[in-house]
Amino acid sequence: MDQSLPTTRDGRRAAGHPAVIDTAGVTRSFDALVAEALAAPIEGWNFDWLDGRATEERPPWRYSRRATRAIAEADRVLDVQTGGGELLAEMLADAPTDPAMVAATESWAPNAARACRTLAPFGVRVSVVEDASALPFDDATFDLVLSRHPVVTRWDEVSRVLRPGGRYVAQHVGAGSNRELTDFLMGEQPVASLRSPERAEVDARRAGLDVRDLRRATLVVEFFDIGSVVYFLRLVPWTVPGFVVDRYRDRLSDLHRSIETEGAFRCHAQRFFIEAVRPG
Ligand SMILES: C[S@@+](CC[C@H](N)C(=O)[O-])C[C@H]1O[C@@H](n2cnc3c(N)ncnc32)[C@H](O)[C@@H]1O
Repeated sequence: MDQSLPTTRDGRRAAGHPAVIDTAGVTRSFDALVAEALAAPIEGWNFDWLDGRATEERPPWRYSRRATRAIAEADRVLDVQTGGGELLAEMLADAPTDPAMVAATESWAPNAARACRTLAPFGVRVSVVEDASALPFDDATFDLVLSRHPVVTRWDEVSRVLRPGGRYVAQHVGAGSNRELTDFLMGEQPVASLRSPERAEVDARRAGLDVRDLRRATLVVEFFDIGSVVYFLRLVPWTVPGFVVDRYRDRLSDLHRSIETEGAFRCHAQRFFIEAVRPG
């Protein structure tokens, strides 16, 4: 979604989507939509399967454009938690100049394998690293560290691997993202401040970085059929931790009926943009 669910918001598209209406013009059943969503592949970090079935607004700051500009000004670049490497590959292709060295980290094995393939044409070295682990690079290696939607951020490590004057440019998921969906399935859950922009700012400063820019956005997300919800919960497993259809079948069935009546399930994603500099 920019992690990213498709952006188009032209109304109830899924109502006429071939996945939702069968060839006889009949709306497909809950079971058929769920089964299809469970069979769809989820490796990579690619939301194309949801095209026409779910949408998400984009933040106004346009992360990939900013990050591409930053790449063009950098010599040595690191992308932390690159996923399948799709976004980094796109940005490297768009950047007018090639950095001397680009590295990426990824923790989840299916994505790491994909990132190696996607990023090989750009000469990117992909390291398999747990999200909460130290970064496998020497001090002051990079003049730009990027990250979009990291699961956790080791601010101490970001600061350590940046050269003096180097920048961290990132878009993070904020606290309580899509909490309406979480709460619908699990009952009301507390929102942890761990992912808040305020907390990120404090942690970045503690690690010795100067926070130069911090912007927040709340984005409308709409799901137009229950298959899109199930697919999303598989792809973004921290929305409902430990999600499996059987455990939530009754609530999913309620949600399916609600979408059929209302046309969509609406919730809100939280995002923030942060740019921080290691003082020279
Ligand atoms: C949210 S993804 C973002 C990837 C990339 N930076 C992007 O924006 O396209 C960040 C991390 O989530 C983790 N991740 C993604 N799918 C996962 C899954 N199904 N299970 C566990 N971790 C997953 C991976 O470690 C990945 O690097």
